[in-house]
Amino acid sequence: MSRSRLPVLFVLAASLVVLASGQPRPVVVPVTKDTATSLYTIPFYDGANLVVDISGPLVWSTCQRGHLPANFACKSDTCKLANAYPVPGCPTAGCGGDPRKDMTCTTYPYNPVTGACAAGNLVHTRFVANTTDGKNPVRQVSVRAVSACGTAKKLLASLPRGASGVAGLAGSGLTLPAQVASSQKVAKKFLLCLPTGGANGDGVAIFGGSPLYLEYTGSEEYTSSLEHTPLVARKGSPAYYVAVKYIALDNSRVPLPPLALATGGVVLSTTAPYTVLRADVYRPFLAAFREATAAQWQYAKKPREVKPVAPFGVCYDARTLANTRMGFMVPSVTLALGGEKNWTMTGVNSMVAVKPGSKVCLAFVEMKEVKAGDGKAPAVIVGGFQMENFVMQFDLERKRFGFLRLPYYAQCGHFNFTRSS
Ligand SMILES: *[C@@H]1O[C@H](CO)[C@@H](O)[C@H](O)[C@H]1NC(C)=O
Ligand SMILES: *[C@@H]1O[C@H](CO)[C@@H](O)[C@H](O)[C@H]1NC(C)=O
Ligand SMILES: *[C@@H]1O[C@H](CO)[C@@H](O)[C@H](O)[C@H]1NC(C)=O
Repeated sequence: MSRSRLPVLFVLAASLVVLASGQPRPVVVPVTKDTATSLYTIPFYDGANLVVDISGPLVWSTCQRGHLPANFACKSDTCKLANAYPVPGCPTAGCGGDPRKDMTCTTYPYNPVTGACAAGNLVHTRFVANTTDGKNPVRQVSVRAVSACGTAKKLLASLPRGASGVAGLAGSGLTLPAQVASSQKVAKKFLLCLPTGGANGDGVAIFGGSPLYLEYTGSEEYTSSLEHTPLVARKGSPAYYVAVKYIALDNSRVPLPPLALATGGVVLSTTAPYTVLRADVYRPFLAAFREATAAQWQYAKKPREVKPVAPFGVCYDARTLANTRMGFMVPSVTLALGGEKNWTMTGVNSMVAVKPGSKVCLAFVEMKEVKAGDGKAPAVIVGGFQMENFVMQFDLERKRFGFLRLPYYAQCGHFNFTRSS
């Protein structure tokens, strides 16, 4: 038999296995917002919850019973994948820095909030979730996965109470979407719909390319009307970057230093509670926002600034801003993306109630400890608050990001998690 036929046979055999076990289906999990930390978690198995980190290259947790040591060799592809993105401040990963006697893989679980990292092992684990048709859970599945486990206590510092690790969802080889795609034979893409938290219910994450329906909105399917922008690769990072040409407030561009946005780029993050702007972007943005908001009184009440509460730069007396179905009436913030697509955020995604009913603040904050124009720091880190109630699709095959702001009558908290019979 010629060599070229072998892969074909393999693919055929793999498809037969899939046919025998039914159509491959994407996998759904609820996404919970932790009120204390503003981080989002998903259940992984048996009550183990992991923090959602779309920039993380690994799935990791504290070491537990039921983890089977994987004993990957230093030189194995899996070890290389696990260490493809060395974390700044961690020892040299893989087996270069501190080779073990048996030459098994060392990897470095990393806490995206504190920056702590510690040596860990690769283990075999299971991601227990449900398949879905986009409307309800269908059937429970146990997805084979490789994760890292570490024992250092500091790894869990500042993560939500009850979280035992991090689910990395970045665009590299050992992340949860990549592993679900290869174990379940589904598309290498995932949907994320982050909830606003509290009584508004759990949001939803679907791995594998799926339609999305929500309760109370009947047959409305949300992924067919996504806007798309290319994902931009950045050397040395598995995170999701997008190209932003300019930032606008209502219809006027915020005057920024030339190349400010291109320097460092714009990255999406589920572990930054609010969007972080580097100082050379934040300062002109804040000035323009205050000016545009003050100019609004011609249409409504005159917005009154009150003493800002850290980390926010400007706050208003809530009673002086009109409150609408799109949130407080302030100039909308638009990120003008590559592909002529606008990501527009109205008051619901730009203003946070610090003291409900009395004080609301602009939910964009200044980056700390970075010199203005530092080429390594991103210009903008789009944070969780700005993504809530948006349907987001990360397509790792076509390398594009799709997004859609849900209409006011729909919410990420409205996925129907009751199994259909
Ligand atoms: C799967 O869905 C059922 C029905 O909603 C639910 O009871 C079960 O907890 C789900 N399993 C997982 C692992 O989420
Ligand atoms: C994007 O937003 C800008 C600023 O608000 C506006 O001028 C432009 O026409 C919008 N483009 C599209 C394609 O909607
Ligand atoms: C959720 O799904 C279940 C099972 O299909 C269905 O019986 C129930 O009516 C749905 N709930 C809502 C609010 O649509």
